[in-house]
Amino acid sequence: MSKQDWIIAAVIGATIALVSAVFGVTPPPAAAAAAASGQDYLRAVYNPLHFQPAAGLATDDQCLACHREIIDQRVRDKSPAGLSAKEAKAWYQQLSTYAGEQDTFHRRHLVTPMARQFMNLQCNTCHQGHDPREEAPGSSADVSQDTTAITLRKQVNPETVCLKCHGQMNYVVMGLPGPWQEVGEQMGNDCLVCHANIRTDRHNVNYLNAEAIEAAGKGNADVCYGCHGGRAWYRIAYPYPRHPWPNMPADTPDWAKDRPAYSEPRFAKPAAVVNR
Ligand code: HEC
Ligand code: HEC
Ligand code: HEC
Ligand code: HEC
Ligand code: HEC
Repeated sequence: MSKQDWIIAAVIGATIALVSAVFGVTPPPAAAAAAASGQDYLRAVYNPLHFQPAAGLATDDQCLACHREIIDQRVRDKSPAGLSAKEAKAWYQQLSTYAGEQDTFHRRHLVTPMARQFMNLQCNTCHQGHDPREEAPGSSADVSQDTTAITLRKQVNPETVCLKCHGQMNYVVMGLPGPWQEVGEQMGNDCLVCHANIRTDRHNVNYLNAEAIEAAGKGNADVCYGCHGGRAWYRIAYPYPRHPWPNMPADTPDWAKDRPAYSEPRFAKPAAVVNR
């Protein structure tokens, strides 16, 4: 090797060492927490809490013992390209209901003011467990061989979780003449002109604060629309259960024939808390 080659090799070597020190050898936070608590990494990965039935019964504290970073991590002030988080806001972050600095996905659902006011989400409201060997249906790890049980490479099933609050508003079944952003004004920007008497048995699930939602939604459709079309990440609407309400018409419309009449049992409130 010539002297020049040696210098190039040394520079490359130092760069690799620096990059791996910064990105490579740093263990993921959960792994570090597992090591610190005297657990080895693989035992932590195969912790029963990552599988049913323990996953469904876990408390947030049990998960946070290893995954504290979910709450602690914050977004950058500036993107790597230098754009400041304060100025780079998406459309849904410019509504009257969006408060505070930009924040992480987990914090927006668990600890920010709106999350605390309207919701009571737990880790296992969304996370129902996962098999770290392979998160694909029909594989050797999928003992149920049920192709609908595992959502490909995801730890949360978006159709049964996210869609509830991030689907389209089904204005057609409501008999509205057009999408809410076009006709909302005509309705006085108030969902309760109809919903004071229609589908009134709502939000009685353990992950929502039903009373706080009704109080804030009175006369301000932005609150209701926020979870029913205003932050729609999907092109479809969620098929909500249709709880019977007083003076409900006896005939079930065709669109509602397959709808359940009650929320999923796993979201049931303790009996004493139900306010019907
Ligand atoms: C004993 C420590 C420990 C506990 C308790 C624990 N986890 Fe984990 N978890 C881990 C480790 C270690 C990993 C793997 C992290 C990695 O490889 O980056 C992991 C991975 C995950 C992942 C990502 C899976 C993937 O394949 O990328 C999710 C989601 C998760 N855990 C959720 C939970 C939830 C929800 C709970 C509570 C019901 C929980 N964990 C309890 C240690 C733990
Ligand atoms: C609103 C639903 C929701 C709630 C509540 C929630 N998570 Fe998550 N979590 C997600 C989604 C979605 C992902 C990304 C999954 C993927 O990549 O497939 C995720 C990812 C993770 C990961 C993988 C690492 C990462 O940052 O991507 C861990 C660990 C995790 N969650 C732990 C938790 C813990 C612990 C709690 C409770 C304190 C919790 N989550 C509450 C939806 C949720
Ligand atoms: C119970 C209702 C509910 C569920 C379930 C839910 N979200 Fe949300 N989501 C909200 C609310 C309310 C906000 C607005 C929070 C705010 O502005 O402070 C929000 C905000 C968001 C944002 C924007 C965050 C930001 O920084 O502006 C994203 C992205 C998101 N949700 C994705 C998801 C995904 C993915 C899932 C499923 C894993 C999910 N949500 C499940 C109610 C929900
Ligand atoms: C013109 C009256 C009217 C207005 C205004 C109205 N709705 Fe509705 N809504 C209805 C009717 C009617 C139904 C269907 C009742 C049934 O189940 O037969 C309905 C159903 C719903 C459903 C359940 C849909 C399903 O697929 O099961 C949701 C959620 C809903 N409305 C939310 C809202 C929100 C949020 C607003 C305000 C942004 C609003 N509605 C404004 C009349 C209205
Ligand atoms: C934080 C998110 C959130 C907000 C805010 C919200 N909803 Fe909902 N809404 C939901 C979820 C989630 C469900 C489904 C609950 C279940 O499975 O029973 C639901 C269900 C409904 C239903 C179906 C009722 C039935 O028959 O079970 C109606 C109607 C409805 N909401 C109207 C409203 C109105 C009106 C407002 C404002 C006063 C509002 N929502 C505000 C999340 C929200």
